[in-house]
Amino acid sequence: MSTGFDDLWNDLVPLGRHRSTGGYRRFSWGAADAEVRAWFAEAAADRGLKVETDRNGNLWAWWGRPGPKAVVTGSHLDSVPDGGAFDGPLGVVGALAAVEELQRRGVRPERPLAVVVFVEEEGARFGVPCLGTRLITGAITPERAAGLADADGITWAAALERAGLDSARIGPDPELLGRIGVFVELHIEQGRALVHSGHAVGVASAVWPHGRWRMDFSGQADHAGTTRMADRNDPMPPFAETVLAARAAAEEHGAVATIGKVHVAPNGTNAVPSRVRAWLDARAPDEAALRAAVDAIDAAARRGSAAHGVSLATYQESYTPVVTFESGLRDRLAEIVGGRAAPAPVLPTGAGHDAGVLAGAVPAAMLFVRNPTGISHAPEEYATPADCRAGVTALTDVLADLVTEKSED
Ligand code: GLV
Ligand code: MN
Ligand code: MN
Repeated sequence: MSTGFDDLWNDLVPLGRHRSTGGYRRFSWGAADAEVRAWFAEAAADRGLKVETDRNGNLWAWWGRPGPKAVVTGSHLDSVPDGGAFDGPLGVVGALAAVEELQRRGVRPERPLAVVVFVEEEGARFGVPCLGTRLITGAITPERAAGLADADGITWAAALERAGLDSARIGPDPELLGRIGVFVELHIEQGRALVHSGHAVGVASAVWPHGRWRMDFSGQADHAGTTRMADRNDPMPPFAETVLAARAAAEEHGAVATIGKVHVAPNGTNAVPSRVRAWLDARAPDEAALRAAVDAIDAAARRGSAAHGVSLATYQESYTPVVTFESGLRDRLAEIVGGRAAPAPVLPTGAGHDAGVLAGAVPAAMLFVRNPTGISHAPEEYATPADCRAGVTALTDVLADLVTEKSED
């Protein structure tokens, strides 16, 4: 059995990495996902943890009997297309390494401890991020989740069935939620705040509100050589205007807006397209700014579509309100990590996390590990081995504190 963070990390790193890009393609319920889930189950069992799959497909590894007031840690193993090695896996490998360290230190937990791997955190395959935690908490209905489809039309329900789960049983899981006393997620920072502060580890204060909107610009396919410009119903120009409007609206409202995924039909060089389907990802420090930016982008898309004789349909695929992590827990973590005299820095993030979804239902907190370039969702994402180990030590110290806390009843 491999031991310690480095060995665990080295075992996981090759799984699901694309040979030519060096990025990860670990999409929920695909072949690479099956490999990393099997890796997790084996690594957890090696550490004496009992592995269970919940009704929604999340993996749980229990140290001690599953029960109430559990201290839960973990993250996700799925990736964006050609994602980095750390977003998600750092929190899973870090959690297993922290449990190993607690065992080595001889810590005797007063409360159950679980390491969790949440499914479809990125929403890369089925479109809705943090689907595992949205399902458990009821932030998405089981009916809507079951019908979410990937690019090939395979639904979430069908993918679950193929993986051997009963899709009729997905949905809110109050019993499981009731077991979680506190959730702590270790994650790579996806910005450079810790670089500027000079700290290896920080604590999350808030998650910006964020959402995804699908925009379908529909026109008329036609011949690129024979259709006069005046006669076209081309969805591409209003789409292009929308991309530029997204940038302008984000700048105006202090938001960020991205169109990073586009499908063009029929996608031929010598054909006017019939449809451009684009996905807008928008985020802001507060909900008013986010709303203002998205409204401005939508208005520009409508204006452009009307001018080009194109129809536009917009769908909100997901929305996550602002999350402010519980200040008592946040400050407790900052003191454990940095010491009372110099608590670890506390920082907000524009990235979405399962800890943010869970924060609406249970006490939740996050630890961030410094990312020297700030790059994330790309193969270049990186944290130094020393900073990863500092993250594991911080998580271990936090878990040791939480797990030895006597419960009042
Ligand atoms: C997840 O990483 C997200 O913020 O989109
Ligand atoms: Mn991510
Ligand atoms: Mn993540």
